[in-house]
Amino acid sequence: MVQTSILALLGGLLLLASCVSDGGSAAPSPAVARDEHSRSRPEEARSRHLELDLRVDFAARRIEGTARHRIVRRDATAPGDLVLDVKDLEVRAVRAGRGEAARAASWTLEPGDPRLGDGLRIPLEAGEDTVEVDYATTDGGTGLQWLEPAQTAGGTRPFLFSQSQAIHARTWIPCQDSPGVRITYDAVVTVPADLTAVMSAGSGGAPEAVAGGARRFRFAMPQAIPSYLIALAVGQLEFRAMSDRTGVWAEPSVVERAAWEFADTESMVRTAEGLYGPYRWGRYDILVLPPSFPFGGMENPRLTFVTPTVLAGDRSLVALIAHELAHSWSGNLVTNATHRDFWLNEGFTVYFEHRIMEAVYGRERFEMECMLGIRDLEEEMAEMEPRDQVLHVDLAGRDPDEGFTGVPYDKGAGLLRRLEQVFGRERFDAFLRAYFDRFSFTSITTATFRDYLERELLAADPERAAEVDLDLWIEGPGLPPDFPRVVSDAFERIDRSVADWRAGRIELAAFGRERWTTQEWLHFIGRLDPVADRGRLPELERTFALTASGNNEILCAWLELAVRADYGPADARLAGFLKEQGRRKFLTPLYRALLERPGGRERAAAIYREARPRYHAIARDSIDALLDWRG
Ligand code: BES
Ligand code: ZN
Repeated sequence: MVQTSILALLGGLLLLASCVSDGGSAAPSPAVARDEHSRSRPEEARSRHLELDLRVDFAARRIEGTARHRIVRRDATAPGDLVLDVKDLEVRAVRAGRGEAARAASWTLEPGDPRLGDGLRIPLEAGEDTVEVDYATTDGGTGLQWLEPAQTAGGTRPFLFSQSQAIHARTWIPCQDSPGVRITYDAVVTVPADLTAVMSAGSGGAPEAVAGGARRFRFAMPQAIPSYLIALAVGQLEFRAMSDRTGVWAEPSVVERAAWEFADTESMVRTAEGLYGPYRWGRYDILVLPPSFPFGGMENPRLTFVTPTVLAGDRSLVALIAHELAHSWSGNLVTNATHRDFWLNEGFTVYFEHRIMEAVYGRERFEMECMLGIRDLEEEMAEMEPRDQVLHVDLAGRDPDEGFTGVPYDKGAGLLRRLEQVFGRERFDAFLRAYFDRFSFTSITTATFRDYLERELLAADPERAAEVDLDLWIEGPGLPPDFPRVVSDAFERIDRSVADWRAGRIELAAFGRERWTTQEWLHFIGRLDPVADRGRLPELERTFALTASGNNEILCAWLELAVRADYGPADARLAGFLKEQGRRKFLTPLYRALLERPGGRERAAAIYREARPRYHAIARDSIDALLDWRG
């Protein structure tokens, strides 16, 4: 332990003053935290502004266009190189210099490893501060998903969306694809005239008709963001306002339902502002994607992307909106400098999400959602190697996607709840508010956070500070003994009912299902045991008809139980569910459960063979690995 603290201290000292990038205006600092998942060399030459001119070609499933970077260089008076990340891109031409002085530049592709892509190295002459790359995307790129009309709600128009986090931006834009590099951007996007383009940016007004049956949309993002927050979607989209600054984009047949589901968004934004300061991004809109979107949500600035699987019809899954909204502070204002620091994004965001949910929907809702998160975390952690149970996880030589577990999320949030518990809500809130102000529009490492915490919260109160072993929390595996537990009266009532039912003291029907919330259902299903309760599934189904549930969270939990209990009547729904949506959170547990049953591998393969072409590359990668898929 002593050794770890000395190491952590040293790390902190080394990184201190150096790892905060400055939003792009000044010259690059010499010691920006090294990002092992980018080939770019921002300490030599760093992009600060990007201008995109893109043409979206659905027939060829390709984006063609130009990316122009305005850069700052360590020494602008000498020749030097700019290095951009590119992966599965066709680089057609590169120019350097501005206006009259622009010239064709030579460039080289430095092959990297297959996960990271290549470095596009462009030698620059003294004084040059602009680089323009003509390029096209290719079929192999993982950052874009092109959908057939049949994969959309309307069924008549194709759809395209991007997903840049963690390192997929480089497959559709040549850029310095590191969260420590912040850029502003402008974009001109040309699409077929019957489709609408939206981006994680402000709109440049009504689209302009252009020759060849196309429309041109303009966007501007004047605030400096990391590349993983650049986002684009193109489809048959309609907009419904929910308040002056919030609204929903979705396909026409979905937009009303979505606007109803997310009607509390404005009050969430107000609540968030009351907690940690003004919403700094202008509009907060939500884009509902087709069901192959591989995540629950993605916090693209000004325009959160969400899965349609949260449209439950009763607003019960809107914690997802609270989460993505919270990223407007934790993540988008203050960003993890490298993928090792991902917990600074997600742990803070889960904590903040819970605070929003508590304020808008009450303490009980918070307790239930928090408990469900901790339950999932503990189940997941039981199967994880110790090195992956660490908040400040070591991802050297690995795909940053491997850091996407419950650890940065719910263990991270646990640390913040612990600090709140020790220092009191008032002081901790003041600390967080000041933290978001101090580091807004910068990318920081774990060491920078620790240093700030030490100075602004711990130093003034050593006695309380001694109650939290930060090395154990941040660098150690597992859950520390002081991990704050939560109890929910509602869940305890369910536990008692389940015990009574198992002992034959009450009938299932007496559970009062009418009044259960989604969270109570999830707790209830989680309490059922595929072995001990195997014989009870028919009765559960007769009483509650869970196989027909329209709530995807409940359905997924039930289907997993059904697979593990070999409950055949749910098989058809299981196959249907795995084919109709591609959210990785639902796919992974279900395919995994199948794998663990006799004959399950064949069943999984039969479903996957059919569903795979419709899954997003990110989901496909996960399920390929799980099933050891070779085609
Ligand atoms: N930023 C994440 C999604 C993400 C993380 C995409 C890392 C790619 C790499 C987003 O904010 C998120 O956490 N989404 C969660 C939902 C949330 C309620 C926990 C998801 O999609 O499951
Ligand atoms: Zn998140």
